[in-house]
Amino acid sequence: MSGPREKDEVSGVETTGHEWDGIRELDNPLPRWWVWLFYACIAFAVVYWVLMPAWPGVHGYTHGILHNSARATVAEDLRALAAQRGAEGAKLKSASLEQIEADPKLQAYALAQGQSIFGDNCATCHGQGGTGGKGYPNLRDDVWLWGGKLEDIQHTITVGVRSGDPDARMSQMPAFGRDGMLPATQIDDLTEYVVALSHRKADAGSVARAAPIFQAQCSACHGPEGKGNQAFGAPNLTDADWLYGSDRTSIHDQIWNGRGGVMPAWGHRFDAATIKALAVYIHVKSGGGQ
Ligand code: HEC
Ligand code: HEC
Repeated sequence: MSGPREKDEVSGVETTGHEWDGIRELDNPLPRWWVWLFYACIAFAVVYWVLMPAWPGVHGYTHGILHNSARATVAEDLRALAAQRGAEGAKLKSASLEQIEADPKLQAYALAQGQSIFGDNCATCHGQGGTGGKGYPNLRDDVWLWGGKLEDIQHTITVGVRSGDPDARMSQMPAFGRDGMLPATQIDDLTEYVVALSHRKADAGSVARAAPIFQAQCSACHGPEGKGNQAFGAPNLTDADWLYGSDRTSIHDQIWNGRGGVMPAWGHRFDAATIKALAVYIHVKSGGGQ
């Protein structure tokens, strides 16, 4: 590029001398703002090198005068978290269930831990808030198959229900229809009887015929008045709360098939403190009664 450069006739700007197929490149100066931004970036880079870890060397790297280290920051955060958890976690281990509920700070810790573990392990069956579904009991109300005291809940979680665990909570309602233990007509009568137990209109003839059958076949578990028995996980049949449904078809189905829900045992999966946290969480969220 020697000699005076050509000027573009229209804009009056010098051209670079490059030309492609008759199109020539104008040599406009860079915009001011761009040039300043460029210098600012260079200045920033220099300051950054000085302050922060930047250049690799043979035996390491330049640490920068701030000695900043993302790894050290994370390690410090983890140490702080462990210390905080350690204090409450250790208390959770040694405290009794009642002591946990009586200590607001410890209870808050147990609730937070219980909620997170419930969401990850229990919500699949019991529903997000523990409100249950067909065959899966609602854990938010004060109706309990196996008992709603803190110790009852703790025990159910530890050993499960019909879980195969040697200490599991066990009981099995017979399949009166499927196994031919009672004729179909008696099961129809018993269905009416259960409807009557829960204070609804039912066929009087059926109810009268079923009364002695209920006492003979069902009262051992459900009680002579049908109020249930938590020792067998046998539900109260006189309330408005149903595990498998309140309609005649569902009731008939249960007497015919005798389903028994399976709840896994968690005692070998979680440590004692975690199960305590879950028990406190469920107890408090159900209203904390009983
Ligand atoms: C695979 C499904 C399943 C999972 C997962 C599960 N449960 Fe259950 N749970 C059940 C069933 C089914 C029952 C009812 C058992 C019965 O019919 O007696 C039950 C019953 C219970 C009960 C007794 C309720 C009562 O009325 O007495 C408690 C408490 C409970 N579960 C807590 C938990 C906790 C806590 C977890 C998580 C650590 C959990 N469950 C995970 C299925 C499950
Ligand atoms: C060996 C104990 C036992 C006997 C005997 C028994 N049941 Fe049950 N019954 C249970 C249990 C346990 C459940 C709950 C099953 C579960 O949790 O999955 C249940 C559940 C039910 C339900 C469902 C309740 C609900 O909330 O959905 C009905 C209805 C019922 N039984 C009626 C009867 C009738 C009628 C008889 C007699 C013909 C009878 N049961 C005999 C143990 C028994």
